[in-house]
Amino acid sequence: MHKHEAGALQVISPKTSVPFVMISVTVWFLMFLLCPGQLRAQLGTTANIKHIVVGRLDCEEIWRQFEEAVVRQSSCNVTVEHYRHMFYSMPQTWPCDRFLFWSKTRTLMHSYAAVVRHFWTLEDTLAGYMFNDLIWCGQEEDSGFDFSSCPEWSACRNHPVYSLWRQASQNFAEMACGNITVLLNGSIVNAFSRKSMFGSIELDSLNPHRVNYVNIKVVTNLEGPFIETCREGSIVDLIQVLQSRGFRWTCTDKDQILMILQCIQNPQQSSCQTCANSLSHRKSLTFK
Ligand SMILES: *[C@@H]1O[C@H](CO)[C@@H](O)[C@H](O)[C@H]1NC(C)=O
Ligand SMILES: *[C@@H]1O[C@H](CO)[C@@H](O)[C@H](O)[C@H]1NC(C)=O
Ligand SMILES: *[C@@H]1O[C@H](CO)[C@@H](O)[C@H](O)[C@H]1NC(C)=O
Repeated sequence: MHKHEAGALQVISPKTSVPFVMISVTVWFLMFLLCPGQLRAQLGTTANIKHIVVGRLDCEEIWRQFEEAVVRQSSCNVTVEHYRHMFYSMPQTWPCDRFLFWSKTRTLMHSYAAVVRHFWTLEDTLAGYMFNDLIWCGQEEDSGFDFSSCPEWSACRNHPVYSLWRQASQNFAEMACGNITVLLNGSIVNAFSRKSMFGSIELDSLNPHRVNYVNIKVVTNLEGPFIETCREGSIVDLIQVLQSRGFRWTCTDKDQILMILQCIQNPQQSSCQTCANSLSHRKSLTFK
């Protein structure tokens, strides 16, 4: 399936409509995030990237700084430092108690954020919004982007796309304050992974003096598998890290709203018929 999506993208002609390209890129990018290293396709910079980015925010200045960071660099040699000027130009502060972090729960996170309207995710920040689902890289001896191929994310230490997201994630986590929510996937091994953006960047950037509570929500697919809970698997490691750094936390693996959201999308599921039943046995852990 991965190969198919990637292959489909390569035959898109320049005349293909932007929405189609964006949908394809979304799928590809998602696969890329989920299984780095498994993809061998060489995709180039997203077609019309300038129009997409400038169209999203109408800010040529930020585009100029972005371009400056990326072009004329070997495509594996763009560090977070290169984006420094760009991020200085887009300072943002957010109200406390609204920060939503997630890992391997992208689809559910979108419906959750849509229903609980006050949540903010990385994708709602300026940088997140402008560069969501795009791919880019430059070339050492050329003042333009490389539209024919970009290296794999896992193939280089300083990938231009990865470096931007790393800095954006770090900024987002450093700003986090009040109660924050972390949405993790209990249907996979290592729901909390030190290799994920949350585990490698965001967690370490959270400030225990700014954050009041880290509220962890572990959610499984309705049909299972049921692999990790607040008391089993990698979530326990996460809780240990939080505790050692002085955070207060809560953890639930039976969140009502999340379960209802999943049932709305899939009402035939047997676990949804007994949904009301199981909700009354809701269990959650709270520690101070
Ligand atoms: C990567 O960047 C550094 C510093 O900007 C430079 O010294 C080095 O030659 C670059 N490497 C490649 C492969 O372009
Ligand atoms: C958990 O991860 C699996 C595998 O990536 C995915 O198919 C599933 O939708 C995720 N579940 C939730 C609740 O996000
Ligand atoms: C923060 O989280 C704690 C623990 O879940 C809860 O008791 C408290 O009411 C929350 N505060 C706000 C402002 O949401």
